[in-house]
Amino acid sequence: MKKTFLLHLIILSLYAAEPISPIPLDVEVDLPKANLGKKLFFDTILSRDNSTSCFSCHNIYDGGADSNIVSVGVKDKKGNIQSPTVLNSRYNFKQFWNGRARDLGEQIHGPIQNPVEHDMDAETIEMRINKIDEYKKMFKEVYGGRHITYAQVIDAIVEFENALVTPNAKFDKFLRGEIELSKNEKEGYVLFKKNGCITCHNGINIGGNSFQKMGTFQEYNEDSDFPDRSKITANPDHKNVFKVPTLRNINKTAPYFHDASAKTLKDALGVMSKHNLGIILKDHEVEDMIAFLKTLDGELPKILDIK
Ligand code: HEC
Ligand code: HEC
Repeated sequence: MKKTFLLHLIILSLYAAEPISPIPLDVEVDLPKANLGKKLFFDTILSRDNSTSCFSCHNIYDGGADSNIVSVGVKDKKGNIQSPTVLNSRYNFKQFWNGRARDLGEQIHGPIQNPVEHDMDAETIEMRINKIDEYKKMFKEVYGGRHITYAQVIDAIVEFENALVTPNAKFDKFLRGEIELSKNEKEGYVLFKKNGCITCHNGINIGGNSFQKMGTFQEYNEDSDFPDRSKITANPDHKNVFKVPTLRNINKTAPYFHDASAKTLKDALGVMSKHNLGIILKDHEVEDMIAFLKTLDGELPKILDIK
């Protein structure tokens, strides 16, 4: 008895010392609200020409991002930056590549109103949604009242996004002491820490908790004109500064970087190590780190199973 207790304590303390923490097995969400949000997430009615839904650019069944180099919205218009994953985005300290939204509630006005995404406005959304009996019923059950408001539409989608977590990644099970990693995966994790990837990619999302420069060691694409942090702060030092992206489910979210310039994880690791660490990785090191990164694939969010 005493022995197992001690063992538990040791496992717990080891786990507390790790710079990455697992996704909780249960997150609290308002289920009826999140289910309503789920329906809206897939509904093209929220776009001007009925062509585009959140799902068009965020494939939540497969990584939560978009395999296009830049996303395509209403009237086939193209965006100006790669679409990041929405999975586990509740754990990001800010939203968007340059962090211009404080949280998911502030973020969502972006795609809805963006002329190259949904190109919509609050009045048109209210007018359309209020005409549909099924929505009227669902909204009444969740919010009461007769008239569906734009704020309620936003609120429901945000609750759905809160449910988009991918627990039980192999790595999380390892952190909880439930399984062992393979030799390569373990070696990859050691390299990830030893080489300093962990200084920027850490915490529950293995990223998503700081702004960092793309090109800390060696300047990256200085002449580009992406909406980076400098567009918000007007500080020229913030050129090419972005929110560090999460590495959860990274195996499924190619292409990589804000400019989608890396097609594979191997390419991405080459660029990261050169520009952000000033090192060149050996082939076997890259292979091991990719083996580790693949252990970050989580289960599909439970909310996607609910009919
Ligand atoms: C036309 C493609 C497109 C559509 C449609 C779209 N998005 Fe996005 N989404 C993007 C792009 C591109 C970005 C990154 C923009 C930026 O950072 O400047 C993004 C960013 C996000 C983020 C921030 C993630 C992060 O880590 O910063 C969230 C959350 C999000 N979208 C949710 C939604 C929701 C909810 C909808 C539906 C209302 C939606 N998106 C519709 C392309 C799209
Ligand atoms: C100085 C901070 C820093 C360090 C160190 C760092 N990264 Fe990054 N990482 C970033 C930033 C910032 C981005 C986003 C860059 C962009 O899109 O321009 C990023 C992007 C990535 C991406 C692509 C994510 C996506 O969704 O597009 C991968 C993969 C990645 N890093 C892996 C690593 C690995 C592996 C290491 C160690 C070899 C590492 N990083 C070291 C800050 C860092």
